[in-house]
Order: sequence, then C-alpha cells, then structure tokens
Amino acid sequence: MKKKLNIAIIGLGNIGSYLYKFLKENQKILSKKNNCIPNIIYISSKNINKKRNIKIDKKKWLKNYLDATTDKNVDIIVELIGGAEGAAKKLVFNALKNKKNVVTANKALIAKYGDKLSKIAEENKVNLEFEAAVCGGVPIIRSIKEGLIANKINKVYGIFNGTSNYILSTMDSDNKNFKDVLLDAQNKGYAESNPKSDLNGEDVASKLKILSSLCFNSLINHKIHVEGINNIDKYDIDSANRLGYKIKLIGFSEIIGNQIYQRVHPALINKSSYIASIDGVLNAVIVEGRPVGQNVIQGEGAGPEATTSALVSDISSILRGNIKFPFSISNRERKKLTYKSIDDRFFSAYLRFEVKDRPGVLSNITNIFSKNKVSIKRLIQNPNKTKKHASIIIITHNSKDKSLNKILKEVEKKSYIIKLPKLIRIGTN
Ligand SMILES: NC(=O)c1ccc[n+]([C@@H]2O[C@H](COP(=O)([O-])OP(=O)(O)OC[C@H]3O[C@@H](n4cnc5c(N)ncnc54)[C@H](OP(=O)(O)O)[C@@H]3O)[C@@H](O)[C@H]2O)c1
Repeated sequence: MKKKLNIAIIGLGNIGSYLYKFLKENQKILSKKNNCIPNIIYISSKNINKKRNIKIDKKKWLKNYLDATTDKNVDIIVELIGGAEGAAKKLVFNALKNKKNVVTANKALIAKYGDKLSKIAEENKVNLEFEAAVCGGVPIIRSIKEGLIANKINKVYGIFNGTSNYILSTMDSDNKNFKDVLLDAQNKGYAESNPKSDLNGEDVASKLKILSSLCFNSLINHKIHVEGINNIDKYDIDSANRLGYKIKLIGFSEIIGNQIYQRVHPALINKSSYIASIDGVLNAVIVEGRPVGQNVIQGEGAGPEATTSALVSDISSILRGNIKFPFSISNRERKKLTYKSIDDRFFSAYLRFEVKDRPGVLSNITNIFSKNKVSIKRLIQNPNKTKKHASIIIITHNSKDKSLNKILKEVEKKSYIIKLPKLIRIGTN
C-alpha cells in the first residue's frame, strides 16, 4: 500500500482555502508523482461560521487549531494565518517542538524568527519549508537550495513585490497618478486593504533577509536599509521615462568578504535592461554566483494560484522524504555577517528639487553639489510660470551615498524649497 502523510491546514483565507481545494482535486496525481498520498485530516481557522468559497467538512474542523500540534496522527502542519506574532507564531513554534513538519507562506514570521525556528526544526529532525514566503510562485528557494547548490553566491537582487511593481508600471503605462493606481490595485485584489508593508518596502525587506541568508549561508541579518515607493509621484515616473529609465522597487543584497550590503529602495533602471521589462504583478529574482554566472527566475509573485504552486512544492518535498536543513546548511554552520551601511557605496543618482522660481536658486544648488564633491552629469530645469515655481532634476556621476544625502539635507533647509527634495539611486550596482 502507498505511504500516506497526514496534513493539517490552519488558516483558510485567500491562500488556505485555495490550497485545500487544490490538494483535494489533485491528490491522485500528486500521490503518483511523490509516491506518497497527501491526506488532509484537519482544517482550522478563526471562525467556523464564516462564509467561504470552499465546502467545509465539519468532521475535519479542529476547534482549537493548536490541537494539530499535539495530535499524533498529524505529520505536516501548513500555517496560513500570517503575521510574525500571535497565532501563527504560537502554531509554528509548537508544531516544530512537537516534531511536526511545517510548511508556511509567512515571510514576516520567517524573516523575524527563522533562525530560532530552523534550530528547533533541526534539533527535532523535522522539515521547515517556506518557498511560498518569498515571491509566491517563483521557485527561488528550492532553486537556491537544490538547483544552484554547487554555487558560491555573492549577489541576489530583483523585484520582490508585485503590488508596488504593479503601481509603478501602471502609473507609467496608463498615465495615472499614485492614488488612482493604488485604488485600482485594491479593486483588482493585488493590494491588500492595508497595503502599508507593500508600499513602505517592509515586505521586500522580509523577503530579502530570507534570500540573503540562504544565498550566503548566513544567519538572518536584521539590519537593512529600507525605503518604499510612497514618495514616488507621476512627475518622477515621467521624468525617468524622458531620461531613458523606469522606476522599480529593488531589493539588493551582496556579500563582500564577511560583510553584507542589504538594501531596499526605488531605483532608476535603464529601460533596455532585463529588470525594466518586469511589469505588473510579476516578480524577478537574479542570482549571481560561481560557477553558474547569472541566473534569472521570474513569475507571478502573489495570489492564491502562484502561492499554492509554491506550497505544493514544499508539501511534495516532505512527501518524498528526507529531512533538509531549512536554510540549506546546519544552523551551527551558518555565519554571522557584519552589516555594511549604504553610506560609503557609490551611486549615480537622480535628485529632484521643487523650488521657488527666483534668481540665484540654481547656482546655490549647484554650489552645494560642488562643495560636497558631487559632480553633475545632467541638469533639467522646468519652470512653471503660472505657479512661480520650478522643478530641477539633477543626474549625478557616481558619488558616495553619504555625500548625496548631505546635499539633500542641506538644500532641504533653504527658504526657496517648496517640497522635500528627493533622491532616487540609479541602477543595481
Ligand atoms: N495573499 C497572497 O497573495 C500571499 C502570497 C504569498 C504569501 N502569503 C502569505 O500567506 C499567509 C496567508 O495569507 P492570506 O492572504 O490567505 O490571508 P487571509 O486571507 O487574511 O487569511 C488568514 C486566515 O487566518 C485565519 N486566522 C486568523 N487568526 C487566526 C487565529 N487566531 N487562529 C486560527 N486562524 C486564524 C483567518 O481565519 P478566518 O477565515 O476564520 O477569519 C483566515 O482564514 C500569510 O502569511 C501571507 O503573508 C499570501
């Protein structure tokens, strides 16, 4: 008789209900492919009486979701509640302590507690799988852990958030402002009703922390430079366009020696580059290492379908057997890296100043640039005669980030400034 592993799915929202239906409909083919039957024995969520788009089998419903962690018949617990604290945290810690395999889509939990959780999983000889936590349907975690196992990876970067990418690319293609596109994204179900962490860069930061530690065989480094897209407006999008760029929210991590550079911020990307072609809700992850060189993987970053694809990949991995280290290598072997701030890195940058249109302003600004030893590559001034103000856009040569920010701070205090100046770095160097 074919082997069978018993599964409890906890959390039946967008993702959990889709996964439940998918596993039931595809049980036969998955059993054949994995030579083991995925058998759902329990489901649970917060509210049993909630109207759902799946038929709930009440015999399978656990009144207390935590009972799944102590039931001797449960082999795999799929956590689909979400959030770094509360019910999800309790469930995953308890499950691993009770020697249950865990599959989760929860990036916030893994980014915050991944080191502690992987230690418990390793001690208890169970699997902790989180493919769905990073870039939904893009199978980047399994690629790093298995397909790219031969490589020493030194850089990982890309577009890791579908909502922000949809907003930026739609502002460009549909000639709309930030607010309208965000509303449109919420209506289409791309953005959550509270899209804070998509817009402020925190969602990308969680994913990048997980990717960095996998790529560099290191413990999770919680230090990271994070800027979101809240500040980008249509004028920036149009200006970037005229200059031959697109604006993208980029996650970027690099290891040099024992030092890690980890950052999330919007960047001007050359229109002809691969990464500029990633539009809408797509995600793309680029990994650079030796001997493979550059490896690119792209796909839908979120949504029930793409996320279920990743969850089933994790469940299948457990069905096929073997205990794997959650972060590729044993917790004892994972290095502690020193975080290097962005201050001393060099970037070419786009700086935008909204100023009162009066004599002497431009020369004052360019003097501040030369005082800080930042040389100007291009300068565009757009006066708005009716409003008596002007937009000044300056593209710099490669300069220290610290110096670019110093200029921003200095100009910001001037009486001719009518809006906080902006800095957007150029490229993915
Ligand atoms: N949505 C995506 O596109 C996507 C993509 C990748 C990863 N993820 C991750 O997948 C996870 C689930 O996301 P989702 O979009 O499905 O969220 P969701 O629709 O808000 O669903 C959350 C579920 O958790 C249940 N829940 C909340 N508190 C609970 C508690 N105390 N005890 C038991 N159950 C509780 C809710 O129960 P009720 O239904 O009874 O209220 C609900 O079914 C999150 O970690 C998210 O980050 C989502």
